[in-house]
Amino acid sequence: MLTKAPRGTKDLFGNEVLEWRRVEQKILDVCKDFGFQEIRTPIFEHTDLFQRGVGETTDIVQKEMYTFEDKGGRSITLKPEGTAGVARAYIEHNMQAEAQPTKLFYLIPAFRYERPQAGRMRQFHQFGIEMFGSSEATADAEVISLASILLKRLGIINVELHINSLGGPECRKKYNEVLKAYLNEHLAEFCSTCQERYEKNPLRVLDCKTEKCQALVSQAPSILDTLGEECKNHFEQLQSLLTEMNIPFVVDPNIVRGLDYYTRTVFEFISNDIGSQGTVCGGGRYDKLVEECGGKPTPAVGFAIGLERLLMVMEAEQGAYIHEPKRDLFIGAIGDTAIKTAHALVYELRKVGISAEGDHLNRSVRAQMKYANKIGATYSMILGEEELQTGKATLKNMINGEQEDLTLEQLVMVMQEKVK
Ligand code: HAM
Repeated sequence: MLTKAPRGTKDLFGNEVLEWRRVEQKILDVCKDFGFQEIRTPIFEHTDLFQRGVGETTDIVQKEMYTFEDKGGRSITLKPEGTAGVARAYIEHNMQAEAQPTKLFYLIPAFRYERPQAGRMRQFHQFGIEMFGSSEATADAEVISLASILLKRLGIINVELHINSLGGPECRKKYNEVLKAYLNEHLAEFCSTCQERYEKNPLRVLDCKTEKCQALVSQAPSILDTLGEECKNHFEQLQSLLTEMNIPFVVDPNIVRGLDYYTRTVFEFISNDIGSQGTVCGGGRYDKLVEECGGKPTPAVGFAIGLERLLMVMEAEQGAYIHEPKRDLFIGAIGDTAIKTAHALVYELRKVGISAEGDHLNRSVRAQMKYANKIGATYSMILGEEELQTGKATLKNMINGEQEDLTLEQLVMVMQEKVK
């Protein structure tokens, strides 16, 4: 137990964490280009927020939340997703008083007690964006286009954008009746989970992954046929905006999403390269959530990308990304005084932003040079008795073997020139 991380969690280190950093940097760049600003909300919130926001009938709230009572007797939940916390912060800090829309992004760990498998973890990470204050389809298109550009910049090609509209509360009510009538005819043929869903939230039956249910669902009436005039126009407008932007999509009436707050647009970017958990990005419009959480009526739209899945897709498509270790200079030393001088020089170099490294294992000169190679040092230098006496040493270029003599006083300046 002591030497194993909890089930459904993962340590990130070495090459992998460097790759995460590279992806995170691309995320920061794209958010800057689109004018989204970072928000950091607490890792836990009051449980009510998710019950109310994500929805009582969802798997997340019913089965998957990490909920506990704190020492003050409050019910607290580790964030299972990012949207509800951001909506809470939007209300709490009266962000609607600023120029609208409010455009926010976050990079967070999220927690769901799910059955772990490839692409499904108990602690996972999301990059999400939320855009508050506009009900126009241009906002939906902007949010989708950000995801699309990010995937492009990461070199991902094999993902498909699926879009659907769940309509407003009126259209949904109407569709629930039509859908229930259809499901009722075939109820015995559906899996037990779907039979339960039929009662509590029939829409979610469309989301079932079992083959038999999927076959039945493919014959079900489409939600798009029950959309009211305004919702229909909104969805059509979104489609023409995406077409204008040259973002390919398929209309998929079976995209219903696993959270209750959605109204109108819902969408997913799906990859076929990483098995059954192929939804890399999921999002949509949620025009009632802010009000539901106690704020003024505020339309909003957003998405979240699962970083683990994103990296799985990248690896499946492009192979593992290798980050070679790199240092500007390794200064080795032999003898007590030289060791002190070497470490003092390393410190001076680091002060001016040069990535220098010294030896910490009292290795032989040969072993120190081997180490310099391993850590990818571009230059190396070894200090001994003679170098201390003359105040001069040899700087070796580890790539082409060239050597130059210089005084120790010159080292910082020379290195600054070289790494410029
Ligand atoms: P979600 O579909 O529940 O939506 O999650 C978004 C993404 O997070 C998924 O597409 C997937 O990539 C990743 N994800 C979810 N659960 C797991 C898991 N157990 N392990 C690994 N990755 C996972 C939301 O969370 C909404 N808040 C998205 C949103 C933002 N809608 C509007 N704004």
